[in-house]
Amino acid sequence: MKAVKVRLKARGVIAEMTHVPHESASFHVTGEAIYIDDIPVNDQLLVGRVVYSPHAHASITSFDLSEARTIGGVHAVLSSRDIPGHNQMGPVVKDELCLAEGDVVCVGQAMFLIAAETEEQCHEAERAIKVSYKPLETILTIEAAMEKNSLMGPPAIIERGDVQGALRSAQHRVKGELHTGPQEHWYLESQVCLCIPGEGRDIFVHSSTQHPSETQALIAEVLGIGKNEVRVEVRRMGGAFGGKETQGNHSACWAALLCHATGRPVKIRLFRDDDMKITGKRHRFLSRYEAGFDNDGLIHAMNIDLNSDGGCATDLSFAIMQRAMLHVDNAYFIPNARVIGRVWKTNLPSNTAFRGFGGPQGMAVIEAIIDRIARHLKMDPVEIRKRNFYGTDSRNTTPYGQTVENNRLPLLYDCLMQSSEYRKRRIEIGRFNAGNEFFKKGIALTPVKFGISFTTSFLNQAGALVLIYKDGTVLVNHGGTEMGQGLHTKIRQIAAAEFGIPLDRVKVNATDTSKVPNTSATAASAGTDLNGMAVKNAIDTLKVRMAESMARLWTEKNPDKPSKAVDIVFKNDAIADSAHSGRSISFAEAIPHLYLRQVSLGTTGFYRTPAIGWDKEKGYGKPFHYFAFGMAVTEVLLDTLTGRHTILRADILHDVGDSINPQIDLGQVEGGYIQGNGWVTTEEVKWDEKGNLLTHSPDTYKIPSVQDIPKDFRTELLQGVPNPGTIRKSKAVAEPPLMLSLSTWLAIKDAVSAVGNHEIEPEFSLPATNEVIVLSIERIRANKILRPGVTVSVRGE
Ligand code: MTE
Ligand code: MOS
Repeated sequence: MKAVKVRLKARGVIAEMTHVPHESASFHVTGEAIYIDDIPVNDQLLVGRVVYSPHAHASITSFDLSEARTIGGVHAVLSSRDIPGHNQMGPVVKDELCLAEGDVVCVGQAMFLIAAETEEQCHEAERAIKVSYKPLETILTIEAAMEKNSLMGPPAIIERGDVQGALRSAQHRVKGELHTGPQEHWYLESQVCLCIPGEGRDIFVHSSTQHPSETQALIAEVLGIGKNEVRVEVRRMGGAFGGKETQGNHSACWAALLCHATGRPVKIRLFRDDDMKITGKRHRFLSRYEAGFDNDGLIHAMNIDLNSDGGCATDLSFAIMQRAMLHVDNAYFIPNARVIGRVWKTNLPSNTAFRGFGGPQGMAVIEAIIDRIARHLKMDPVEIRKRNFYGTDSRNTTPYGQTVENNRLPLLYDCLMQSSEYRKRRIEIGRFNAGNEFFKKGIALTPVKFGISFTTSFLNQAGALVLIYKDGTVLVNHGGTEMGQGLHTKIRQIAAAEFGIPLDRVKVNATDTSKVPNTSATAASAGTDLNGMAVKNAIDTLKVRMAESMARLWTEKNPDKPSKAVDIVFKNDAIADSAHSGRSISFAEAIPHLYLRQVSLGTTGFYRTPAIGWDKEKGYGKPFHYFAFGMAVTEVLLDTLTGRHTILRADILHDVGDSINPQIDLGQVEGGYIQGNGWVTTEEVKWDEKGNLLTHSPDTYKIPSVQDIPKDFRTELLQGVPNPGTIRKSKAVAEPPLMLSLSTWLAIKDAVSAVGNHEIEPEFSLPATNEVIVLSIERIRANKILRPGVTVSVRGE
């Protein structure tokens, strides 16, 4: 109760100080916001097209581009032989060809590039390309990859305690298998890049990429030129969600090759269906687990095998598997734990980052385990969750050795159980279910604990370049990119607050590799944490310079009463000496003085996250600067005849520290949860037996729409919980809320379980599509034992 009061009291104050709309909100609404496809170019612009493999695995025995090259309006038709530099676009491991050479390894792999004056000419040229193939054996599932031992690389392991011993001596054991499905990013703006040739070898690149520095590097490599000749600019992306962390590079490299070959501006914008076929998705996982627990539901041990479908190339698969392994504990202390992660290689497009970056796949396993434990012990799952939560003083180290500091789980749990009226509704749901044969309700609470930092520790760095012009306006450059998440808005707020000036005096520039070098991807939810600190660092440097000069100026005017730089403050749109009243000048007026006094009014800033480090070979260390926490209660109504569900109510309480911008943070929390709901319910990716994607457009792939929003949606930010050691005591928000959607998945399972009066455990994979639900209900109605090999055993059996 106390925490709830604190929360509500603090709310009005914070909302008032930080009620700032997204910096592009009005542009988004009026259509003025410029996306790459809107950038005006001269009449030299050519359309670029990528011709991709129709086979999942085949060797190219011959190809002939000569006829395609003769078609009117066609300026270039390129194969791997026409690449002036290195034929590679693997971001970490160099195992991803820019254009196929010898073999094709998935449907959708780029083989040839066309630049022509019109789209139609591109299509005509594509039809004129002749290729012959020899089909090769294909691997299209994790199971098939296991059978063929098609591993992408060595397995990784995290281990603590005596897992086998603890499993053996446990009062109960639960064992099983969980499939979690892929997910298509469905950014509204498909992959797009515009390249404009400059003088000499210069190339100016407008790319929809989360990682401009990597895009720059790969273009330099495929063209065989210096990075200093490639300039990549990103004004904004029309959504990315991890899908442009590495795979924005692809269209960029292809457009750059065509631009280089033709000497003309070239734009590649993937048609939606092509985008869906060519690009990788969230990794599907096949996870096998065993957990040992006691009569009270306390977990003593878990043994978990995670297997992911990496697709045909490495991309970020190992980092994603690592994050999955680091999140199988989710919010729970498990004294004896062993987690093995294996990435399997298949003949599908290379899977990639997607909001949560493996975290959702890992967490789904432990949440499934807990749900099964509760059903076995006939206890409410919230009890099992609560009992296993990380402690504050003891039971607070993760299996990989990091202490869970500033644990918000108990506070979130107490507040949310109360505000959501969980217990009362649980009883009402029981009554409803007893009185309804065909409609059933279900409810579930799930927590999220998500580690913030890139697990590849050196990536946790950021740079900035802050410029003050003579009229007192400020231009901020930083390495992060805007994809709708509100990073630039927060950076603008940070800069204005640090200078003590109004927001409208600060502009955040488009991200530009010629302003800030060697940046990391805007990813891992760390955009504001890293870039915000780098911007603050630059502003701190400028403020010292400005303060010293102002102090000297005031001292020169009155040498008897010297001003000291340390007393100079920047607030209320003014620079003032806090030790001498009357010594104050407005910010805008001060700048011309400082200019005349030859003070440098532009500088760089830098930040690296302190005190983190992690040995991935040993599976031990402190990979994360801190953890983000959240919790959700979801209630669903299920039509047991069709499998259709409606979310009646969702209550979310999420921890973002001291929010820099509560409206943006609430948007991220709600958006993440809804996006996750798509993953756990309707978004089903299917391929045919030849590796062709069947679900390649919105008519076959169902993302959440406005009807899928909870009928009663209550989202709140936890208040009064400043996060130590971060920019303005804030916390990252972006990815963690996606995993709150596991409450929807388990609420549906709860409703299905009600069909059998909670006597028979439903079989449940993820996503819980209507089909999965109906089949699960049919099995319950037929009262069958569910999946062979999935058993709950009691000691002594
Ligand atoms: N929100 C919007 N509107 N669009 C996006 O593409 N991407 C998500 C998240 N929220 C995304 C989004 C992902 S995957 C990440 S990692 C973060 O935003 C990246 O931004 P941040 O680090 O600045 O929060
Ligand atoms: Mo986000 S998946 O880290 O781009």
